[in-house]
Amino acid sequence: MSAPFQHTTVLLAEAIDSLLTTPDGVYVDGTFGRGGHARALLARLSAKGRVIAIDRDVAAVSAAAVGDARVSDPRFSIHHTSFANLGTVLAAQGIARIAGLLLDLGVSSPQIDDPARGFSFRFDGPLDMRMDTTRGESAADFLARADERHITEVIRDYGEERFALQIAKALVARRESGNPVRTTGELAKLVAGAVRTREAGQDPATRTFQALRIFVNAELEELEQGLSAALELLAPGARLVVISFHSLEDRIVKTFIARESRHEVDRRAPFAPEKPHRLRAVARIKPSADEVRANPRARSAIMRVAERTDVGVAGGGPSAGPLPSRPASPRGTGRGTSADEGST
Ligand SMILES: C[S@@+](CC[C@H](N)C(=O)[O-])C[C@H]1O[C@@H](n2cnc3c(N)ncnc32)[C@H](O)[C@@H]1O
Repeated sequence: MSAPFQHTTVLLAEAIDSLLTTPDGVYVDGTFGRGGHARALLARLSAKGRVIAIDRDVAAVSAAAVGDARVSDPRFSIHHTSFANLGTVLAAQGIARIAGLLLDLGVSSPQIDDPARGFSFRFDGPLDMRMDTTRGESAADFLARADERHITEVIRDYGEERFALQIAKALVARRESGNPVRTTGELAKLVAGAVRTREAGQDPATRTFQALRIFVNAELEELEQGLSAALELLAPGARLVVISFHSLEDRIVKTFIARESRHEVDRRAPFAPEKPHRLRAVARIKPSADEVRANPRARSAIMRVAERTDVGVAGGGPSAGPLPSRPASPRGTGRGTSADEGST
């Protein structure tokens, strides 16, 4: 049986063209989804090449393994985990260096379009929003326990919602009346009542749904960890290709590439040798007008491409620094969300 929900891959040809440096290499697709990128990559590899896929969603992993849409190719394997754990996945396979890493961030259409997953205000369903349903706290459980301040911070900082405080107050009042929000429909209705001015062409719940999804899945922290891991695993000349769908994640990718591409001078020790760069920024690519017409989900996509230099690869080079831990609240993680994807 084929998968009930389909996903149209964004920037398919551009991503594979940017990622591929050798047909014999080991590549990681850190966000398998329904395998649009992984399949196109396999088609371009030699018999020696390999694709190691990762997805934190059990449904995505099952789609790769069983059913009509499975990937039956000895050069392919899939692993149920976060791409933040890239190093562990590769170490278990005895792989020290990869030829490229692709991250196509956010949620897939099969996730958004399945009411049971709770990502969308277009359908009524349980307010879950976890990509990995085997662990963690659902959005409903978070809203059932968090205080007004924490809820306000999440909605404001991850959704850039001006009415975050009003929404949080309405959520807490409803909970205290013994009727906590448990479904996407209930949340969308509550937000519509709390948001006083409407944005043209956008449902009032868009920003709140995006904020909760980012928080529940610790999306920004996972991204930072995945990028740090990549730096240690990409071979010299290997490519890092990241497709983002909102400004919070694109800012993390952009800042990471800029930081690692610069010859940094330590201001506290200006006469010390410059820190050599571990990445070279290669490209920033947006979908064509034709692609956006054919697939509106592509409209907010930005793909950034960087290449690993040989600095620090043989050991003894600069380390990627400590991995960030998940903050108790999201304050200070950045602003400027274009709340227009994945929260429909
Ligand atoms: C936009 S879809 C990828 C679509 C895929 N490129 C394709 O062509 O079918 C994003 C996928 O990444 C997964 N994902 C998001 N964050 C992840 C993470 N930190 N680790 C692993 N998978 C993640 C989601 O579960 C979802 O299946």
